[in-house]
Amino acid sequence: MTTAPRVRECARILLERGGLRPRVHLVLGSGLGGLSARVRDPVEVAFGDLPGFPATSVEGHAGRFLIGRIADTAVLVQSGRFHLYEGVGADTVAAPVRVGRALGARTLVLTNAAGGIRSDLVPGSVMLVDDCLNLMFRSVLAGPVTGDESRFPDMSRPCDPALMALAEAAALEAGTLLPRGIYAAVGGPHFESPAEIRALRAAGADAVGMSTVPEVTVARAGGQRVLAFSLITNRASGLGLGSLDHEEVMRYGDEAGATLGALLEALVPALPR
Ligand code: HPA
Repeated sequence: MTTAPRVRECARILLERGGLRPRVHLVLGSGLGGLSARVRDPVEVAFGDLPGFPATSVEGHAGRFLIGRIADTAVLVQSGRFHLYEGVGADTVAAPVRVGRALGARTLVLTNAAGGIRSDLVPGSVMLVDDCLNLMFRSVLAGPVTGDESRFPDMSRPCDPALMALAEAAALEAGTLLPRGIYAAVGGPHFESPAEIRALRAAGADAVGMSTVPEVTVARAGGQRVLAFSLITNRASGLGLGSLDHEEVMRYGDEAGATLGALLEALVPALPR
């Protein structure tokens, strides 16, 4: 058993070190850590400095927060996240979102690496998450209600339509294609079999990954607005040429991460504070 992170205490440490209250919390997925170079006057706090935060065990997930500014907007940028497949508790997976909210972030922007199922979602493309399919067979909220979160949060619009429109405007301006799609979250850590991908396609999934849905759920339970982007790093199992491995996911994260980075840099100042 891991000790559950102490959310208030973690928020206090981040506020004390960072000296500002972030309005936007950005979570960077596998291979997307390069985006942290876009934060002005960053103060770094490693996960290991926060009570109850275990070190992340996944290569490509740095495990740290940066507090600083993108343009004039105060941001909390999180490199690395906790996944249920690491064997940590739901409280640990949820903790970074709760810490961001305790600090004052009203908007949560999530990014992830995902496999493309729909035919246009080829490696290197970016998808704006329109809706989620939770195929992790559990809710991150199971257990006692935390703080002022809702017991039965509404998930009829997991991602905020007005913020999605802002993201689409920023993409249009930058000349970046940003198709909408449905993100399916599976438990992992193994990649899917081709039969599972066919089942996911039939269920309406456009892309598949192993994160994000728990964070969206926690954010919605706490009344935060959410935006989420999938960086397509590979064709899903059975749809591409060869087998899948984490190195491939990381390589595309590095390459196409730059496109998503530029998009986020343009978008953040347009988000409501
Ligand atoms: N499946 C699940 N998770 C992923 C994939 C995938 O194909 N690519 C990146 N993360």
